[in-house]
Amino acid sequence: MPAFASLKKSGRPMPVDMKGPTQVAQTIIDLVGKNHPVISEMRIQGPGFIMCKISPLYLQGHIDTIMCTKSLPKPPQVGPQQTCLVDFSSPNIAKEMHVGHLRSTIIGESVCRILEYVGFKVERVNHVGDWGTQFGMLIQFLKEKYPDFKNSMPNITDLTGFYKAAKERFDEDAVFKKLAQLNVVKLQSGDVECLEIWKILCDVSRLEYQKIYDRLDVTIEEYGESFYNDKIPPVIEEFEKAGTLSIEEGGAKCVFVDKFKVPLMLQKSDGGYGYDSTDMAALKYRLHTVNAMRIVAITDFTQGDHFTMCNQAARDIGWVDKGQKLQHIGFGTVQGEDGKRFKTRSGVTVRLVDLLDEAVDRMEASLNERIEQGKANISPDEVHGVAEAIGYGAVKYFDLRRNPTSNYKFSYDAMLDTKGNTAVYLLYARVRFESIMNKAKAEYSIDVEELIKSGEKIVIGHEAERNLALQIQSFADVLDLTLDDLLPYHICDYVYDLSIAGSNFVTQCRVMGSPEMKSRLMLCYVTAMAMQQCFELLGIREVKRI
Ligand code: ARG
Repeated sequence: MPAFASLKKSGRPMPVDMKGPTQVAQTIIDLVGKNHPVISEMRIQGPGFIMCKISPLYLQGHIDTIMCTKSLPKPPQVGPQQTCLVDFSSPNIAKEMHVGHLRSTIIGESVCRILEYVGFKVERVNHVGDWGTQFGMLIQFLKEKYPDFKNSMPNITDLTGFYKAAKERFDEDAVFKKLAQLNVVKLQSGDVECLEIWKILCDVSRLEYQKIYDRLDVTIEEYGESFYNDKIPPVIEEFEKAGTLSIEEGGAKCVFVDKFKVPLMLQKSDGGYGYDSTDMAALKYRLHTVNAMRIVAITDFTQGDHFTMCNQAARDIGWVDKGQKLQHIGFGTVQGEDGKRFKTRSGVTVRLVDLLDEAVDRMEASLNERIEQGKANISPDEVHGVAEAIGYGAVKYFDLRRNPTSNYKFSYDAMLDTKGNTAVYLLYARVRFESIMNKAKAEYSIDVEELIKSGEKIVIGHEAERNLALQIQSFADVLDLTLDDLLPYHICDYVYDLSIAGSNFVTQCRVMGSPEMKSRLMLCYVTAMAMQQCFELLGIREVKRI
């Protein structure tokens, strides 16, 4: 008999002995059999669908492992440890570190934590703009304003004000402008005086950034644009040798990339180097010297084309080995509640320190109110620490929980809401499990850690327990998804769903004094632990009591 006896209208051959979906489903069910270790029940649910129920024993075993290892699952490490490089935060020296840099800092820190969690060695790189044309103008202004800078160190703490004043001079005076431009070339070719002034300016800026990083528990190492200065000429030479360098009008050295009209400019006509030059030298260094398997740069979305071009030029010249991945995470704008770019009422850019202060202040006020109402479980001297953890956590989570490409409105009310999808809600939700465990200790002398050590096992019976256990065990899938695109919002979605499943569990299943008390306490423990692990991945500090 021919293998295909009939042809459907589409012309695709159909096998003669083709079975209907229900028959196929039944065959699958029969093949899986009754005593499967993972699936306890299979049912046909409409044509083409099979409903599988995960075995409670399997689920219990899974949750027990998480409980005993005190860790959510991570993929096994195969082969030697690989390096990933995350280029984030990266403000520009002497320019305002704005709310966009805050986004990059928050997202970048979380991306690093996720990669470290699964076992990568992570290079956390602050690609600060410490070499741009702005220095020509700043150096000129400092020479003019503090001619005696060598003997008496100028006291500039407000670099932004300094920058503004220099910019005014630059815009109004052609001679100043010319001298400023000359300074850029002098600085980049190692002029001692220019370098000295440059260093002063960088040091002042650095102190300001560090304050933000300290508050946000961000670890990052500076490899600014200047680091790549001496690595640029060999890169230009390499493109020249490869025959892909084109000399444009005025003598600028450029590299064209398929589908883009405007080329990357590796050297300007005046001999200076710019953003493109530095990024190409940085890419080569990261790919060949750091040997990073994955390179992620996190900036606002408007730089998307720049990174696509740099990454493509690196591939074109053959720097990227099989398996090395280059990625750009581009994020949208932060808007004020009026939907416009985020500014203070007086119209100036918001200082990040003030923004963080306000989140903490508001949280502190709300905690003090709770203390007054007798609802809080903390003493007045703990308030500030808790307010910081929740306030900073709230700012971070508000950003991380969405796809970075979206713009969002910065709203203290929304991010500090105790009921919505916020860090505040989540931290409270987690503390609820801690309180249940503390109560069991105080009233029943049951210590959950001791229970676990004694080998006591979790038994999953109630539907709400089962849903919670299923949610806990789905972490491995969420991690898989996150490792693919490196967007922390997957972890946010997960921890939010987890808190809902956890809250359904404690509302529907009595813990205190119930026959299932021990098992349920352990389930509280695993839930609190799983939530805590997510907070760590998101960079949210631990809060034990509120
Ligand atoms: N300094 C840049 C800015 O403020 C971000 C740098 C990002 N990293 C890079 N390798 N280009 O927009």
